[in-house]
Amino acid sequence: MPTSILFKECLIPDKTSKLVLYAPEIAAKSRPGHFVMLRVHERGERIPLTIADADPEKGTIVIVYLVMGKSTALLEDMAAGEEISDVCGPLGHPTHIERGGTVVCVGGGTGIAAMHHIAKGHARAGNRVVGVIGARSKDLLLFEKELASFTNELLISTDDGSYGRRGLVTELLREKLEQDKTVFEVVAVGPVHMMAAVAGLTRPFGVKTTVSLNPVMVDGIGMCGACRVSVGGKTKFACVDGPEFDGHQVDFDELKRRLAAYLEQEKCSFELYEKARL
Ligand code: NAD
Ligand code: FES
Repeated sequence: MPTSILFKECLIPDKTSKLVLYAPEIAAKSRPGHFVMLRVHERGERIPLTIADADPEKGTIVIVYLVMGKSTALLEDMAAGEEISDVCGPLGHPTHIERGGTVVCVGGGTGIAAMHHIAKGHARAGNRVVGVIGARSKDLLLFEKELASFTNELLISTDDGSYGRRGLVTELLREKLEQDKTVFEVVAVGPVHMMAAVAGLTRPFGVKTTVSLNPVMVDGIGMCGACRVSVGGKTKFACVDGPEFDGHQVDFDELKRRLAAYLEQEKCSFELYEKARL
């Protein structure tokens, strides 16, 4: 369905923006963990984006994207007041949220925005929420203020040490798990290497670990098979069976291989679009 962009905020110049979309039917049904499939124009490809927030009263949803190919570059070229050709959702299963004590929500890079919605759901359910967020440097860190407004504790790392602790989110997570025995679940959203590292880290601690997977998707409704992932030795489709899965059961090596399969074509298409724009 055609969807208006009500508001656009640049979070990282030429790289990441936040869009507030007027989508009352999606906002009414949206829960943490859901995503939408979006097509910028009639002949464009469909891209999956996690819903970073929703306001059923205002009829709005928030999406945050990283410009990494032609479709996200097309989105980045749009302005508030313009219309996206179609936005379909909410899709996928919502996050399974149970009340159990302390939950640590880990977000890396653009994944922080998607993690934010899940963390908010846990806070609303009455869990003690510890946020662990990381980016390569201070200027790439997203949603710090939003997360600080409801988390009980917010730990920050940057790879280059320009803000918070120098290093990766997994170093902060390890310390947290060593010190705090009340943690009953870890949720991780971000680059696949980060989610794999989080799952590897939590396994010896025996803490339930949920990851939100980001495989290539084409239709988003379980028909094409593009989002196939192996979980616990079984084939699952992230769009209809996920996108969240038990991180200890996911075959991350296969996911990394499948994510890399179209990188060359994506790069070519992005470069052609950039050239045409000049
Ligand atoms: P990035 O590569 O800059 O990494 C962000 C942070 O993740 C790093 O600062 C570090 O703390 C952590 N990290 C990265 N690799 C790690 C590793 N091997 N071990 C431990 N920690 C590690 O992130 P980016 O460039 O913003 O990319 C964001 C990624 O998140 C994209 O690949 C995108 O597809 C993905 N994403 C996923 C979802 C989802 O729902 N799963 C949603 C949004 C974005
Ligand atoms: Fe087609 Fe999931 S995107 S089956």
